[in-house]
Amino acid sequence: MPNDLLLRAARGEVVERPPVWMMRQAGRYMQAYRELRAKYPSFRDRSENPELAAEISLQPFRAFQPDGVILFSDILTPLPGLGIDFDIVESQGPIIKPPIRSQEQIERLTPFEPEPKFGFIGKALHHICREVGDRATVLGFVGAPWTLAAYAVEGKSSKDYALIKTMAYREPALLHKFLQKLAEAIAIYACYQIDQGAQVIQLFDSWAGQLPPDDYSRFALPYEKYVFQYIKERYPSVPLILYISGSAGIFPRLKDTGADVISVDWTMDIAEARQILGAEVAVQGNLDPCVLLATPEIISDRTYEIIRKAGRRGHIMNLGHGILASTPEENAIHFVETVKAYRY
Ligand code: CP3
Repeated sequence: MPNDLLLRAARGEVVERPPVWMMRQAGRYMQAYRELRAKYPSFRDRSENPELAAEISLQPFRAFQPDGVILFSDILTPLPGLGIDFDIVESQGPIIKPPIRSQEQIERLTPFEPEPKFGFIGKALHHICREVGDRATVLGFVGAPWTLAAYAVEGKSSKDYALIKTMAYREPALLHKFLQKLAEAIAIYACYQIDQGAQVIQLFDSWAGQLPPDDYSRFALPYEKYVFQYIKERYPSVPLILYISGSAGIFPRLKDTGADVISVDWTMDIAEARQILGAEVAVQGNLDPCVLLATPEIISDRTYEIIRKAGRRGHIMNLGHGILASTPEENAIHFVETVKAYRY
């Protein structure tokens, strides 16, 4: 039997149980990943060598068969395609060198072309699709313009986003120019992933929840919408998921983005999320990743609570953000198996 549960749930169809996968399911909590990381210490090597990226993407699939297999990559991966260089440094996270802060730098950015530079993404997706076949859904993903701009302007992870917000408030026209260039690049990059086999696209606007709601509507939402519209015009049947961390305060606005599925963090009751979004939009989430640090009984109870609240139509079970590196692997497996054994 082909497993298209995730696609059916994303389209709002009635399914026998919710599909399940985990954000960051390929990563540091897995022993197999840590072994590969010891052999290939550079994040860019691991994520830009197609055989390695495919191998890492498939580690969770081999270990516990989630219903979705996400490409192992990063939201920053396409930035060199615009002329923005980056690295991911152990215990520091992403570093952009040099940060993008001037009009001159923004004007100099180059239009994005997937091939030949990003052919490794296509190759990795081919490997993944070949191994997964019809046993799960393959997800591609991109970072949204606001979140990518936040990294590019700040130059690294930030607590307060003071530099990009200063640009937003003092030089809005300049930031809009940058956001538009990022949106065009990201839209093309997402379509490339679909061409190469991705069946769903998740858009990560992780830091859009840091904006005051009206500024979310000015600086983040229009560009999320641009990317979704661009993809929808070309691939109307590919489900589009939007993830924003800390989105409770802007939740009613998320309907206007054009996403088919809204990924809900753990600060929101998923039943209330559904009420706000209405029947047309599916939901994903929203288990607190810290629940996976508890016992198997607690993990099952909290998982059932969410499944019942979300209802039987259009819910993809997932965490409210990425799985923590300190999660015991057996707890992650227990979570996935709990969902897979559930029947509505
Ligand atoms: O979900 C998956 O399994 C696919 C892989 C994936 C990674 N990054 C791999 C990765 C995905 C979907 C991302 C997206 C991403 N990258 C986001 C959006 C999701 C979110 O968490 O909000 C963001 C904000 C980034 C930027 C980024 N890259 C951060 C904040 C970090 C972590 C820094 C750290 O050291 O904790 C990275 C590095 C990164 N990307 C790691 C992984 C597995 C950890 C580095 C490593 O394994 O060596």
